Amino acid sequence: MSPRCKKIACIGAGYVGGPTMAMVALKCPDIEVVVVDINEVRIKAWNSEELPIYEPGLDDVVKAARGRNLFFSSDVKRHVGEADIVFVSVNTPTKTRGVGAGKAADLAYWEGAARMIASVSKTSKIVVEKSTVPVKTAEAIEKVLRRNCSDPAVQFEILSNPEFLAEGTAIEDLERPDRVLIGGKETPSGRSAVEVLKSVYEHWVPAERILTANLWSAELSKLTANAFLAQRISSINSISALCEATGADVGQVAHSIGTDSRIGGKFLNASVGFGGSCFQKDILNLVYICETLGLKQVADYWASVVSINDYQKQRFVERVIEAMFNTISGKKITVLGFAFKKDTGDTRETPALDVCQGLLQDNARLYIYDPKVTENQIHADLATPKFEWDHPGSRTPSRKQDSIKVLQDPYEAAQDSHALCVLTEWDEFKKYDYERIYDSMMKPAFVFDGRNILDHERLRKIGFIVYALGKPL
Ligand code: NAD
Ligand code: UGA
Repeated sequence: MSPRCKKIACIGAGYVGGPTMAMVALKCPDIEVVVVDINEVRIKAWNSEELPIYEPGLDDVVKAARGRNLFFSSDVKRHVGEADIVFVSVNTPTKTRGVGAGKAADLAYWEGAARMIASVSKTSKIVVEKSTVPVKTAEAIEKVLRRNCSDPAVQFEILSNPEFLAEGTAIEDLERPDRVLIGGKETPSGRSAVEVLKSVYEHWVPAERILTANLWSAELSKLTANAFLAQRISSINSISALCEATGADVGQVAHSIGTDSRIGGKFLNASVGFGGSCFQKDILNLVYICETLGLKQVADYWASVVSINDYQKQRFVERVIEAMFNTISGKKITVLGFAFKKDTGDTRETPALDVCQGLLQDNARLYIYDPKVTENQIHADLATPKFEWDHPGSRTPSRKQDSIKVLQDPYEAAQDSHALCVLTEWDEFKKYDYERIYDSMMKPAFVFDGRNILDHERLRKIGFIVYALGKPL
């Protein structure tokens, strides 16, 4: 094993692999960093002026290091073969078929990557789990690596180094992480591999922020962190329903409890529901692990975080319909925001999709505006029915497509509409000329603020009927 790292390869040029490795390359000019992917279109985009993902600050980091010591390549085998450290940052989606379908993580991409690493390795390597994986994955991966490498002199040391970045703030999170977690085996070679990876992060992360743990703790910490974060959102969202039923204000409740330093004020924004590629997937994975270990109560506890999230999205749709005199059939509804959160163009598991599907189910006509999500992406997402309470066959995808328009201008999207639904917390939504929007809308004009970001008092003064989450009417 090389005591110092000269070359890093990262398998997977996605939302994690791309930004993470760009930051490593920026901060470690002495290390060659190559991000590889089987998706040639993605690699081409990473090498172009238009990066494949939108992330504030990412362009500058990539431009500073690309061509110097940061490279993007589809020559996967060559670069993996030459690397001292191989990060594996491939997708680990929820299984859609077979044993554990709908809950367990699909490790097919991971296993494929491990088999490839074994087959091309002529030198020993540190293999780093960057993807989020079930606890004990390292054990399985180690077997795949060892049994598929023909050279007995080649050693593999597996580390778990889960990624905690959030989309929209990835660059900030990578530059100043709360912590970097490295899990390794408690053997001399395991400890020395941990030191090698630590030395990479020490280029810019203060030593006290680099935590080490055993492999299983590190793997489980990642699933636990996401479960705790999502649980906070479901907790405050469940309280938002109670607020609506009692006249309490969820913003005031969140503020009051958040000032208790044991609770803390972050991640207490009531919303139409959490989205993103990971929270639901990782909780379902945790639930599956607990179920297979016979821990039913633990599984049920965490499963309820996802149920409350589904309930919150469903509740939002029902509230819209009820408020608009129990019918939205043929009514034009303007959807502001389709991304799963602000400052990203990512729509994976976005709550907007479920809400839009629900509104379409009741025959609404949707005019959608999002500053970063492309028209094609929105149409593609909406063409795939996935809503839990969707009744297959009741509307064909082509009829749905007729009811959906994606606009490039929010004022145009609002023209002649009966209601505005705010589904993503984009800052620009706060700055619109709502007098102008009100004048152009049908009356009564409704606002359903699924993110509680607008000035509700002002909107009411203009004439809007405003429904905010967890707030009195
Ligand atoms: P992604 O789908 O954006 O990227 C994964 C990439 O891996 C794809 O481009 C795919 O083509 C590539 N790939 C798959 N198999 C391959 C192989 N055998 N060889 C080469 N390339 C291969 O996924 P992502 O959002 O970057 O997430 C990656 C992992 O990181 C997941 O496990 C996820 O749970 C975890 N994670 C994601 C985030 C996030 O914000 N998106 C944050 C923390 C952790
Ligand atoms: C989340 C975690 O925050 C990261 O630490 C983790 O690395 C990542 O998942 C992952 O493993 O993929 P991300 O999903 O990118 O990051 O974004 P978040 O900021 O966590 O937001 C997730 C969802 O929760 C969004 O839909 C957001 O709008 C929603 N949210 C967030 C709320 O509804 N209320 C809040 O108070 C905070």
